[in-house]
Amino acid sequence: MSNYHIKHLEEYFQVYRKSVRDPENYWEEIAEEHFLWHKRWDNVLSWDFEKPEVKWFEGAKLNITENCIDRHLRTRGNKTAILFEPNDSSEKAQHITYNALHDKVCQFANVLKQQGVKKGDRVCIYLPMIPELSYAVLACARIGAIHSVVFAGFSAKALATRINDSDCKLVITSDGSYRGKKVLDLKSIVDEALETCECVENVLVVKRTRSKISMKDDRDQWLAPLMDAAEKTCEPEIMDAEDPLFILYTSGSTGTPKGMVHTTAGYMVYTAFTFKNVFQYTEDDIYWCTADIGWITGHSYIVYGPLANGATTVMFEGVPSYPDHGRFWEIVEKHKVTQFYTAPTAIRALGKEKLDFVEKYDLSSLKVLGTVGEPINEEAWHWYDENIGKRKCPIVDTWWQTETGGILISPIPYSTPAIPTFATLPLPGIQPALMDEEGKEIHENQVDGRLCIKFPWPSIARTIWGNHERYKETYFSAYKNMYFTGDGALRDSVGYYRITGRVDDVVIVSGHNLGTAPIEDAINEHPAVAESAIVGFPHDVKGNALYGYVILKETGETRDRDNVRKEINQLISERIGPIAKLDKIQFTSGLPKTRSGKIMRRILRKIASGDTSNLGDTSTLLNPEIVDEIMENVLK
Ligand code: PRX
Repeated sequence: MSNYHIKHLEEYFQVYRKSVRDPENYWEEIAEEHFLWHKRWDNVLSWDFEKPEVKWFEGAKLNITENCIDRHLRTRGNKTAILFEPNDSSEKAQHITYNALHDKVCQFANVLKQQGVKKGDRVCIYLPMIPELSYAVLACARIGAIHSVVFAGFSAKALATRINDSDCKLVITSDGSYRGKKVLDLKSIVDEALETCECVENVLVVKRTRSKISMKDDRDQWLAPLMDAAEKTCEPEIMDAEDPLFILYTSGSTGTPKGMVHTTAGYMVYTAFTFKNVFQYTEDDIYWCTADIGWITGHSYIVYGPLANGATTVMFEGVPSYPDHGRFWEIVEKHKVTQFYTAPTAIRALGKEKLDFVEKYDLSSLKVLGTVGEPINEEAWHWYDENIGKRKCPIVDTWWQTETGGILISPIPYSTPAIPTFATLPLPGIQPALMDEEGKEIHENQVDGRLCIKFPWPSIARTIWGNHERYKETYFSAYKNMYFTGDGALRDSVGYYRITGRVDDVVIVSGHNLGTAPIEDAINEHPAVAESAIVGFPHDVKGNALYGYVILKETGETRDRDNVRKEINQLISERIGPIAKLDKIQFTSGLPKTRSGKIMRRILRKIASGDTSNLGDTSTLLNPEIVDEIMENVLK
């Protein structure tokens, strides 16, 4: 039996039992056998969910880039580490070997040092999916700087909030980015953001689109000449196991985005382990995850997990619909991709297109298909299974979160029998619990509950940057001694889990986590708006879309409502980014509120979803009459 590589169901159950009976011993054996340490840990785990505080491999010394790069050079130096597939299919793919990756990361690390970046400093990375994004992430890790990657679809305001929250010293960006037919101007977004960021001293700019941009003297520099002049070796900074590796922002149901802090050793061990098992990775595989490195999926399963296993990881710059809807499948054929990992929203969108786009290509290289980010509906699951996997590839429906760092609930392909829409069983070391509304654990099966995790795993986020209280409040105060995920789940008769969706005010739109409160704040900035409430409603491609209920101020003047709708979406684009735009905006004279003034979102959600059969008891509302008005004017 191997602790590190589970190959059949029997083995899974044995390993799982061991991992729960003696977690410390279990993870210690894995850490010992599969990674490079400068010093061994003094203690495998200490934890206290009350404080909350979790520490794994305390006292150990390591550098994650040595584990992701240097360790492979002797045996895999000429193997492709990153296979870069550009936006434009006529541009040649780049095979970046482990040797080349080593040189680039060291050069970039030396550039960062020259710019005065030191261990513990925060560096914001705002780049498209080009190789420099991976180099930048790893260069930070090489010198012990904490990277904060911000998805390059966020607006200047959203970028500025994130830069200021973690006090970043340096920003790495590019002149522009290619997304399908569009060329986006990233540098001017950074320029606008930096008008309100005093902490940033330097900006490094990657040349990608050759767009005309302005460079600010004393602040902005092109990256290429600095890289060319830099040495190709850079001694790794030796880090403590619990030193922060990165910050990644995720939406909360209220307030500003939360900067989740992940630390070094536990994150490395867990992402490497889960990558190996969930994708049944073997040496000659070509693995492709279509996510953006701006999200946790990209951090854990494009960069760190695959590279820690010496894998070839595909990095795709473009979009699934360009030059046509066959692009994903063309890439699978071209590079003989063996594992393909994407979001249900992409599957639903591509499933609506003609099958010719799929049938043109030879997909026989595929061995494992994965999904992540939101519940997958049965129809999409079957489309994926039949047309992409040809009923021969197991599908892994992987459930996890920015906060969890790695996959927690997922089938192990070729071991766990899959059932559509079920993420199935917890991975080794993961102890899920379902809680009822009264805060009691539900022990029986075939019930719904709120999903918690009872015991720490190595890659749990350790805190929210600069706000440990909020970390405690958000994840550890709902249920005593439990990490609360914010998701609802059902456990069936055999113990399989199906994630039913968020139970808080976060809506997942096209796989992106969006907090409703910041969107409402943006809408309320509109001069004609008095109040607003946002809810999600089902959408056949995006999974959920956003529905806004907006009360206009009574100023006596009449405004063109379609214009106000446009202006509201414009504001949202500016404040957050186009991903947060509303699909429907209904103007209303009031919102259903409880006597204590809280908006009853449950009612609004039901109305927006077209499900008005059982609105529950509305008589306790402060203004029950408003419910009829809202129902009458609901937008279909
Ligand atoms: O609601 C769950 C949903 O995505 C949330 C986490 O979002 P984020 O932090 O952006 O990370 C996404 C990538 C890991 C979860 O709380 N979610 C994620 N995976 C699944 C899912 N819902 C259902 N099934 C999944 N497989």
